Amino acid sequence: MPPARKLALITGASGGMGAEYAKLLGGDGYDLALVARSADKLAAVGTAMRAKYGVDVVTVAQDLSLPDAADAVVVQIPQCDVLINNAGFASNGRFDRIGEGRLTQEIVLDVLTLTRLTRAYLPAMIARGSGKILNIASTAGFLPGPFMAVYYACKAYVLSFSQALAEELRGTGVTVTCVCSGATATGFAERAGATGSLLFKLPVSNAADMARAGYRGMLRGKDVVVPWPPSNRLVEISARLLPRRLLLWISRKAVEDERNDV
Ligand SMILES: NC(=O)c1ccc[n+]([C@@H]2O[C@H](COP(=O)([O-])OP(=O)(O)OC[C@H]3O[C@@H](n4cnc5c(N)ncnc54)[C@H](OP(=O)(O)O)[C@@H]3O)[C@@H](O)[C@H]2O)c1
Repeated sequence: MPPARKLALITGASGGMGAEYAKLLGGDGYDLALVARSADKLAAVGTAMRAKYGVDVVTVAQDLSLPDAADAVVVQIPQCDVLINNAGFASNGRFDRIGEGRLTQEIVLDVLTLTRLTRAYLPAMIARGSGKILNIASTAGFLPGPFMAVYYACKAYVLSFSQALAEELRGTGVTVTCVCSGATATGFAERAGATGSLLFKLPVSNAADMARAGYRGMLRGKDVVVPWPPSNRLVEISARLLPRRLLLWISRKAVEDERNDV
């Protein structure tokens, strides 16, 4: 009997980088559990993956910005071999002018659900002695981001959490990888209200390239992946070396959008 195929769960798989991760994992023969809100888009990705790679696909239409969302996912998908915590969104604008409800959803999606899904699937991975977790952070995780303050702080959490877990889990057979890409052409900037920021006016990366870099890093068990282009690495190095006030000024100039309440 052929060995059972492994299952990869991908959040935010209805588009952007999540759909690219679905292609990479499906192409490597993983069965897929695809999670996001848009049932129609998930179904389209699932149909394409079944047709192209012959893998099994389950779709879960779930709003992951609700505090109990992880429980609802785990009820439907009780275990997975690979967990890609990809779903996330940002809000561009001055902090006091962004709705409290939106900020709460952002923190729940970007931080709480990622943490709770990791907590839910990790024990069985450790018991099996194998498993891979890929957390999608951002170069935003390296520094504070005025006018996207909550998002940058959330991604700093994801980076810190992932590195700590990677260290805790060394020797268990389970790896945790965190990918920190920079501005990328997806639906992200539009959702964030950030299309007018310098960050998204400069040349941006391609979603397939960013996912490929994260995926390769995950397969190699790397702790942190900072994909090409070198500007991403420059953000990381600058965050360590530049005087804080200068760093904040540059960060502000990259993010602030005069159309957004500045
Ligand atoms: N694009 C960039 O510049 C960039 C750079 C660095 C890091 N990132 C990170 O990369 C990850 C993927 O973003 P992307 O660029 O691919 O953005 P995207 O094109 O906006 O895709 C976001 C995905 O997350 C899902 N999602 C959003 N809100 C959700 C919710 N409440 N519940 C469930 N799913 C939700 C969306 O699906 P539904 O709308 O169907 O729910 C979609 O599948 C995010 O964590 C983002 O922070 C992005």
